[in-house]
Amino acid sequence: MFKRYQGGLKRAAAAALLGAPLVKAANTFNVSTKSSLAPYLAGFSSSSDPSAPATNAALKIVVPVQAGDEQTFSEVLVDTGSAILWVGALDAYQPGQYTQVTNDTFSVGYGVGGVNGTAYNDRVTVGSATVNSQIIGSADYMYGFTLEKPIDGILGLGPSGSNQGEVSGSNTTSTFVENLVSEGTIDEPVFGIYVGPLDDNAESVGQITFGGIDESKINGDLVWLNQTPPYNLHWEFNVSSFSWGNLTASGPLYGRTDTGVLPVTVPFDQFFDMLDMIQGAAIDDSSLLNGCITFPGNATTDELPPLEIGLGSLLFNITADQYIVPKTLYPSLNITDDGMTHTWIGSGGPSALTLGQKFLEHAYSAYDMDNHLIGFAHLA
Ligand SMILES: *[C@@H]1O[C@H](CO)[C@@H](O)[C@H](O)[C@H]1NC(C)=O
Ligand SMILES: *[C@@H]1O[C@H](CO)[C@@H](O)[C@H](O)[C@H]1NC(C)=O
Ligand SMILES: *[C@@H]1O[C@H](CO)[C@@H](O)[C@H](O)[C@H]1NC(C)=O
Ligand SMILES: *[C@@H]1O[C@H](CO)[C@@H](O)[C@H](O)[C@H]1NC(C)=O
Ligand SMILES: *[C@@H]1O[C@H](CO)[C@@H](O)[C@H](O)[C@H]1NC(C)=O
Ligand SMILES: *[C@@H]1O[C@H](CO)[C@@H](O)[C@H](O)[C@H]1NC(C)=O
Ligand SMILES: *[C@@H]1O[C@H](CO)[C@@H](O)[C@H](O)[C@H]1NC(C)=O
Ligand SMILES: *[C@@H]1O[C@H](CO)[C@@H](O)[C@H](O)[C@H]1NC(C)=O
Ligand SMILES: *[C@@H]1O[C@H](CO)[C@@H](O)[C@H](O)[C@H]1NC(C)=O
Repeated sequence: MFKRYQGGLKRAAAAALLGAPLVKAANTFNVSTKSSLAPYLAGFSSSSDPSAPATNAALKIVVPVQAGDEQTFSEVLVDTGSAILWVGALDAYQPGQYTQVTNDTFSVGYGVGGVNGTAYNDRVTVGSATVNSQIIGSADYMYGFTLEKPIDGILGLGPSGSNQGEVSGSNTTSTFVENLVSEGTIDEPVFGIYVGPLDDNAESVGQITFGGIDESKINGDLVWLNQTPPYNLHWEFNVSSFSWGNLTASGPLYGRTDTGVLPVTVPFDQFFDMLDMIQGAAIDDSSLLNGCITFPGNATTDELPPLEIGLGSLLFNITADQYIVPKTLYPSLNITDDGMTHTWIGSGGPSALTLGQKFLEHAYSAYDMDNHLIGFAHLA
């Protein structure tokens, strides 16, 4: 899920790899996440953002957040594409014993939808990680997004400074992760995300680690990539290679991780080359995976090679088995069994890839706010 498109999309070029050491912070906090399909969530994505995936099916990754008058907001969406914390969409936020009135308001646009309301300063707990003084938005007014299951709010894990203009009276405000550091709860503004695979009920369990990475989740080295400047917009980075069989992308490629979308979106040109390569391939236009590729049922697995995505020195192979939608998920995705092979492959922007859940199920990702790095590792 991306916030409203605010600037020119940077044409990042070939990959840069920085050999930063593994972060081993003394204080880390694991927070379990739970995910489910949220068919209408894509209302958040902006149609004006050329790299926003077109599909309607999104993944809703939520964590419980405690704030206000001893309230627990259990369905707070985790979003690496925004950087404000707000709650109260389901049950109204009530100021509690730690709440300080600020006289400020907040307002965030997420594409076709948005939220605004009163900004407070409060003690906020996510999992077992507590910030004593956190700006928190209390939603008074929400527009544009119609969720199948309502959400309580959004926990923004975007880069520092990417919430400019969203709280009155401040240019930018400190994110939850930055406050964990400034209050001495964690040592570094670093976090790691593990997204579990979807089960047959289209649900999964994952984990965010604040303050470091969970080394038990990874296999081999975590490789850090430089974030593409400007640093105060998105967690964007250079992708070193992309290929599918004999199709390769030449020239600079850039990528973003997105915990809020299901498919892997591949660069626009390669998306159309993939369609051309397999006779009878088409674009899904009737299910919740609309915009994704469907191959004819007679396409052999030889013809459906792995998607190979190079990130720094690591190569991630997403095999046909992994990018083909299992039939058990057809009902959840409103796919009619039409004999076609449905995939989780959509079209990204020009030279752009979005690494959504179907990529993140096969990789650990990490984010270093101070050093402007995005890390990847193979899963254990
Ligand atoms: C991305 O690649 C381009 C072109 O190769 C290079 O100029 C740029 O410095 C790279 N950016 C990062 C953040 O590594
Ligand atoms: C986080 O979870 C991992 C296992 O997944 C465990 O090894 C580690 O000790 C946990 N860290 C904390 C701070 O609980
Ligand atoms: C908020 O506004 C009220 C009334 O104008 C004022 O008394 C109070 O000092 C203000 N609080 C802050 C934190 O600015
Ligand atoms: C929220 O948005 C609505 C509609 O644009 C507007 O009427 C209202 O004044 C806004 N409230 C705040 C606190 O910004
Ligand atoms: C406001 O925030 C933006 C984005 O982080 C930053 O580029 C700019 O320098 C800030 N302006 C002021 C006046 O601090
Ligand atoms: C690329 O692979 C496809 C499918 O295997 C094949 O039909 C085509 O001839 C190949 N093209 C080249 C240039 O090798
Ligand atoms: C596979 O099916 C598609 C669509 O029905 C058709 O266009 C194509 O020719 C078939 N390919 C082979 C190898 O039979
Ligand atoms: C990825 O798949 C290609 C083609 O099947 C294979 O040659 C390569 O060894 C695989 N790489 C990894 C890292 O699994
Ligand atoms: C799924 O399909 C049914 C029947 O066509 C339709 O009524 C329903 O709205 C669709 N669900 C979604 C989430 O689009």
